Amino acid sequence: MLPTHRPRRNRKSAVIRDMVQETRLTAHDFIYPVFITEGQNKTEEIKSMPGIVRFTADRVIDEIGQCVELGVKAFAPFPNINEVLKDPMARESTNLEGLYLKAVADIKRQFPEVVIMTDVAMDPYSSDGHDGVVDPDSGEILNDPSLEVLGQMALAQARAGADIIGPSDMMDGRVAWIRRVLDENGFSHVSIMSYTAKYASAFYGPFRDALSSAPKKGDKKSYQMNPANRLEALRELALDEAEGADMVMIKPALSYLDIIREVKNHTHLPVTAYNVSGEYAMIKAAAQNGWVDGERTMMEVLTSIKRAGADAILTYFAKEAAAVLRRG
Ligand code: PBG
Repeated sequence: MLPTHRPRRNRKSAVIRDMVQETRLTAHDFIYPVFITEGQNKTEEIKSMPGIVRFTADRVIDEIGQCVELGVKAFAPFPNINEVLKDPMARESTNLEGLYLKAVADIKRQFPEVVIMTDVAMDPYSSDGHDGVVDPDSGEILNDPSLEVLGQMALAQARAGADIIGPSDMMDGRVAWIRRVLDENGFSHVSIMSYTAKYASAFYGPFRDALSSAPKKGDKKSYQMNPANRLEALRELALDEAEGADMVMIKPALSYLDIIREVKNHTHLPVTAYNVSGEYAMIKAAAQNGWVDGERTMMEVLTSIKRAGADAILTYFAKEAAAVLRRG
């Protein structure tokens, strides 16, 4: 018997394939994480992230200008804080004259139309390298004392001009806490994109190189989620929705495409996914060895994240992928 159904008919030419294509990437889908460091007019390579650098605050302005030209208009800056400014309470994180918040204010002054999402977590400023306050005796990460610090951090970021606050710390109750602090201080217009399901992942390694922010002791498993868990992501989703999150995020993306889909099917909020540093590094490493076609792999991976249900993607590929899309 010859086949009655021939799905290949829908693949028979480039025009037909384009016509029936279900998922399409655009530069508007991307949020570009950028690393900021002290100094002037220089960039520093990050060995484990080929093609990604730390920018001094003046140079990040040029980078953002180039991205805007390519249609990328949302950015997630992260600071590489000088070791001497780190302390157990992450005090530098509220310094409006410090590296990070000055850079944020500067970007918003130069490019009022771009969206800046700032990161709320103590690790870049913490002498312990943890996202919350560490009990000096037990080494435990203390939830409620951390909320106090995170709320003040978010408020300072709003004052610097952040459009979206991105709590990446995974403390319990932080979305409601931050929402209240923002609202009480006249920042009810500032959004919260919660890192809803952030897993205790091995894929964050290169990011911790970029910011010298690896935990000095222990790991993050008492606050970041167990990679084996799916239902727990839905529990976190329900809490973030109830606490007033405007958008939710899954992180990492590639080993968690099922979670992205699951969350997308359970919420009316926009869903984003963070294609993290280790996922970027793997593709770059394989491409540099000639083992995969870097450009095609990049586009396939980004498309798969969107197909899984992500409305926007935080990715170190943002600029490169936008250039590919522009070229057509
Ligand atoms: C920390 C934070 C991390 C990332 C974003 N915010 C690392 C961590 O939790 O240790 C990782 C991003 C990446 O790997 O690209 N609050």
